Amino acid sequence: MEIIIVGAGIGGLSAALCLAIAGHKITIVESASQLAEIGAGVQMTPNATKYFWKWGLGPDILAKAALPAAFNVRQDVNGHIIGSVPFANFEARYGAPYIVIHRADIHRILHEHAVKAGVDIKLSCRVVKYDFDGGGIVLANGDRLQADLVVAVDGINSSARESLCAGNSETHLTKAGWAAYRARVPVSQIRSDPRTALVVSQHNCNCWVGDSLSVMTYMMKSSELLNMVLSHPDDVDTKTWSQEEYKAKILRLFDGWDPCVIALIEMAQPNVQNWPVEQVMPLRRWASSTGRFVLMGDAAHAMAFYLSMGVSMAVEDAAALAECLSLRSSSRASLAEAMLVFEKVRKARVEAVREASLHAGNTLHLPPGLQREARNASLLSDGLNEEERNVDRFYAEGNAYGIADRRIRDWCYGYDVIEAIQEGWSHRLGLK
Ligand SMILES: Cc1cc2nc3c(=O)[nH]c(=O)nc-3n(C[C@H](O)[C@H](O)[C@H](O)COP(=O)(O)OP(=O)(O)OC[C@H]3O[C@@H](n4cnc5c(N)ncnc54)[C@H](O)[C@@H]3O)c2cc1C
Ligand SMILES: *[C@@H]1O[C@H](CO)[C@@H](O)[C@H](O)[C@H]1NC(C)=O
Ligand SMILES: *[C@@H]1O[C@H](CO)[C@@H](O)[C@H](O)[C@H]1NC(C)=O
Ligand SMILES: *[C@@H]1O[C@H](CO)[C@@H](O)[C@H](O)[C@H]1NC(C)=O
Repeated sequence: MEIIIVGAGIGGLSAALCLAIAGHKITIVESASQLAEIGAGVQMTPNATKYFWKWGLGPDILAKAALPAAFNVRQDVNGHIIGSVPFANFEARYGAPYIVIHRADIHRILHEHAVKAGVDIKLSCRVVKYDFDGGGIVLANGDRLQADLVVAVDGINSSARESLCAGNSETHLTKAGWAAYRARVPVSQIRSDPRTALVVSQHNCNCWVGDSLSVMTYMMKSSELLNMVLSHPDDVDTKTWSQEEYKAKILRLFDGWDPCVIALIEMAQPNVQNWPVEQVMPLRRWASSTGRFVLMGDAAHAMAFYLSMGVSMAVEDAAALAECLSLRSSSRASLAEAMLVFEKVRKARVEAVREASLHAGNTLHLPPGLQREARNASLLSDGLNEEERNVDRFYAEGNAYGIADRRIRDWCYGYDVIEAIQEGWSHRLGLK
């Protein structure tokens, strides 16, 4: 098929590569004049990263990625480890490792492989209008492009979503209640200060947790910088803040915390930014009625980052779409039917992960009390103290923090999207 993909972020490039490998003819249109990923690091979780290996990115990723040994959850005031998740057996259990990589690196690797697979990338092409039923787009310069299928992967502020869902995209984008200061700290400085040296002695993820606040750090391979994400209630307007104000206000917010955290904040480079955590609430539809348009990636399902599942969800979308198109070509199903299967299977999955991600954030930020004690206890037992707990009811009731709970990990990372699509396909005749 001829497929137009709108957006060359990590999601759009993943979809392009996957669909090109499956034999489709892919054109990406991207509004930016050059390809670049902003921000610092990104954590990538199994099992979706397994598809990066299937698509041949494994060696290039490993050359640039750090594979942390553990995820340590630490107490706010003194840094004592409340619980620790060893990553060592992830590859054996989930078919792919837990990876930390620079955004620019994974983006560049995807881009290079997409080009090698024959993907045509057109930069400086902003889509201003969609023909959802006809497989068409109109660019800002007036050009019209046409294909069998248009896939919009245009990010959290998606204009495709806005027009597909008839205006008013504000109602789809909601605040999660948390925001994150993102900062970077020079590793050399961290290493030479006895208060902080521990943080970079290994490539571990460290996460200090306290009442309504948390500090997550990880180091990228051969990087000069430690990535630091400081979560806080989303109740400040930082628009007018100078970098001096950022630092002073963050120091005040974390007053009384582990001297290591305080020192890291003091050392942060002056390019701190605040990111309100926003989620796309369940949309009525992702595909058009003819099936010639579909929404994917953050545009369809941006979620809180507390389970680090954003990239994994985009990768699952890509693999799922390729599988639906393949099943369709070997059957007499229409494109509309294939897209209904895609939409049904993916919406259920991302909705569960979205809720779990927000729940994980809320669990990290619990105030003192019984719930926090239960969380602390489950951190010591890999979540297995809550023996009778039903994973499906976890979001509402569980006290374990997602990644530190084996059953949540099994459910998040052990998911097989191809199997899910095949299962959905076998029930497609009942879909409307
Ligand atoms: C603070 C923070 C931390 C995060 N941490 C993690 C993490 O640790 N792990 C993880 O997996 N995920 C994380 N995520 C989520 C992750 O960044 C996204 O899920 C992922 O990048 C997928 O994005 P995307 O490709 O769908 O959209 P984007 O990366 O936003 O790409 C959209 C692209 O579409 C282009 N575009 C937009 N409009 C148009 C138009 N009209 N015409 C043409 N092109 C257009 C844009 O220029 C852009 O290139 C985090 C997110 C945030 C905010
Ligand atoms: C975790 O719980 C333990 C035991 O209930 C308690 O001693 C400790 O202070 C708690 N830690 C945090 C960060 O609340
Ligand atoms: C989305 O729009 C908001 C508000 O205009 C902006 O602050 C934010 O940076 C945008 N996000 C992305 C990823 O473009
Ligand atoms: C990981 O995904 C693959 C599909 O690519 C699947 O076969 C495998 O069972 C998954 N791993 C786990 C632990 O479920």
